[in-house]
Amino acid sequence: MKIAFYDTKPYDKIWFDRITEKFGAEIKYFDFKLNAETACLSKGFDAVCIFVNDSADEETLDILHRNGVKLLALRCAGYNNVDFKTAYGKIHVVRVPEYSPAAVAEHAIALLLTLNRKTHRAYSRTRDNNFSINGFIGIDLVGKTAGIIGTGKIGRVFAGICKGFGMKVLASDPYPAEGLDVEYVGLDELLANSDVISLHCPLVPETRHIINRENLGKMKSHAIVINTSRGALIDTPALIEALKTYKIGGAGLDVYEEESEYFFEDLSDTIIKDDELSRLLTFPNVLLTSHQAFFTEEAMREIALTTMENVKAFKDDKPLDNEICYKCGGPCDKKENTGRCF
Ligand code: NAI
Repeated sequence: MKIAFYDTKPYDKIWFDRITEKFGAEIKYFDFKLNAETACLSKGFDAVCIFVNDSADEETLDILHRNGVKLLALRCAGYNNVDFKTAYGKIHVVRVPEYSPAAVAEHAIALLLTLNRKTHRAYSRTRDNNFSINGFIGIDLVGKTAGIIGTGKIGRVFAGICKGFGMKVLASDPYPAEGLDVEYVGLDELLANSDVISLHCPLVPETRHIINRENLGKMKSHAIVINTSRGALIDTPALIEALKTYKIGGAGLDVYEEESEYFFEDLSDTIIKDDELSRLLTFPNVLLTSHQAFFTEEAMREIALTTMENVKAFKDDKPLDNEICYKCGGPCDKKENTGRCF
């Protein structure tokens, strides 16, 4: 299998190079993203491997298909950047559904603890011999309430950690997890009663801007919002307005709606043109990381392994356990019978 690997960073190569040979694959690394302009370079490849900010929209997929690409291997769990209806019947789409839920949940906790106790600001102050603690007051998390939107793999780990802190946990999910020690409530009740609100649902039409002006208005004025899921779960102008008017206590963001142009890149010598991103970075009670929640050694090892196993299963005409299509979750018995979505 010849794989065109888009949006490659040095850390991708480290983990994939270790195992590529074992799988008998050949990888060509591109450091630019997949989109309609770069898709032409997929000619001669059997598979294309992409990450969260590549675009597999209709135009791009049509080019990949014309170029003979048969497999789109996502080296991530989220798949909101793929036009599944266009891909269906032409290009199989596989992903890494689970690599380390703990990696993401622990990063969400890191954002929460940092924002609450201001350790990011304390670090800068003490390095400047400023030992004042003015403005650094936080709250005890024990006895407080965490509200979790989406109790899938990551949300459940996050819930467990909050329980360990002695917090009460409220949750909202159209498909509640059985046996999870949380109290399921409606979204409004969760928003009104939580001191911490953490987003762990996927980005789908129903969840786009789930944190909007109206829902921000329902939160406690000291509530901390954590988003390690997808940027477009939050309506950014509404969040900025809520922060400016002290409607919420702070925001820990590992994702941003318009992140694709900025995240993962060193732009320290350039001027940021996105005024909303720039505005977010001015708030003392906003902590922004650039989509690094997944980034642990365990997760990278698992991502590389599962991606290559997906490619090998495709090459060997085996069932594609990690295939996903727009019919998945709905009435489709094709995968059950044949092991593949089409
Ligand atoms: P999952 O599929 O195991 O869980 C998602 C949960 O959200 C499910 O229980 C589902 O029923 C629930 N959900 C769906 N619609 C909802 C709604 N309207 N309201 C509340 N809950 C809803 O997914 P997992 O593995 O826990 O990942 C969650 C998200 O985290 C992914 O969709 C991805 O976008 C993001 N992610 C971010 C990473 C990062 O590095 N920042 C890394 C990996 C995932």
